[in-house]
Amino acid sequence: MKVGVLTGGGDCPGLNAVIRAVARRSFVRGHEVVGIREGWRGLVEGRLEPLGNREINGLLPRGGTILGTSRTNPYKVDGGVERVLETFEREGLDALVAIGGEDTLGVATGLYAEHDFPVVGVPKTIDNDLSATDYTFGFDTAVFICTEAIDRLHTTAESHNRVMVVEVMGRHTGWIAVMSGIAGGADMILIPEQPVSIDDACKEIQRRHARGKDFSIVVVSEGYELGGDDDQAAEVDEFGHIRLSERGVGARLAQEIEQRTGFETRVTVLGHVQRGGSPTPRDRVLATRYGLKAADLVQEGRFGRMAALHGDAIVDVPLEEATSELKTVPDDWFEVARAFFG
Ligand code: F6P
Repeated sequence: MKVGVLTGGGDCPGLNAVIRAVARRSFVRGHEVVGIREGWRGLVEGRLEPLGNREINGLLPRGGTILGTSRTNPYKVDGGVERVLETFEREGLDALVAIGGEDTLGVATGLYAEHDFPVVGVPKTIDNDLSATDYTFGFDTAVFICTEAIDRLHTTAESHNRVMVVEVMGRHTGWIAVMSGIAGGADMILIPEQPVSIDDACKEIQRRHARGKDFSIVVVSEGYELGGDDDQAAEVDEFGHIRLSERGVGARLAQEIEQRTGFETRVTVLGHVQRGGSPTPRDRVLATRYGLKAADLVQEGRFGRMAALHGDAIVDVPLEEATSELKTVPDDWFEVARAFFG
């Protein structure tokens, strides 16, 4: 068999570990493995490169993706889907492993449903917002990075008697904010799923200061809606997502807190640092297990499926289940965080 592999959407730590696992298991079975450059764009434009033992050397701890990535949506490119199918045919590919989040896997779902395209999916995103799997790889690393940042901000916040607002990624869910906030001991966490008014957030901070604490750590997810025109960002990508970082929710929140409480407030926007660097051991292991599972699904000809984590077990689920709805943070997780507010 000739097995193609692509990585699409925002990069995240662990992508290379999946590529390595898919390749290693496929080589053992005598298959050829081909890397597709920059996500779906590589199939639209016919940019592929063979992957051998040399190419997959040293990949396990390496961040980013050796294949490159893009947010290209073939459904939005003139003749895009036809070009994907043509490239696949011309290159003599038998199967595709698509490693991605909601958007990349959404395209895979469409191609499978409409063209019986032989694709299997691997769930990736630091946002952890994909349904049908308990965790996506990349998330643990992002939470680790944010927690470390919160720890560091604690010491400077305490020294200066300041409120520190930390803006983290997560798109329209608050998984990174809640998990890193719990781990880092945040005094207030604002996420899209739990609309708390700025007034209430400020009251919590004041309550904390009233009981003798002179500093506070506030974690806000980039998708949190403060209200007002600034919640609408100008730029939209090919999948229709607005660029949330442009809304500057952290900076606006910090300004409001300072104005309303009189406490000196600073903001730190962690941005793409959350996606960079080496994956945590947990993400390396998860990515490896997903990669092996994807190679097995290919071997068994079970296309239209996605590797998933249920509890501690790697299982497979229909691709469409992963993208059918956004996996938001359940109330009970937020309750754990809320127990330490104020
Ligand atoms: O989906 C991953 C993610 O990092 C989101 O958390 C964030 O909103 C977005 O991608 C940023 O996208 P870009 O890398 O295109 O700025």
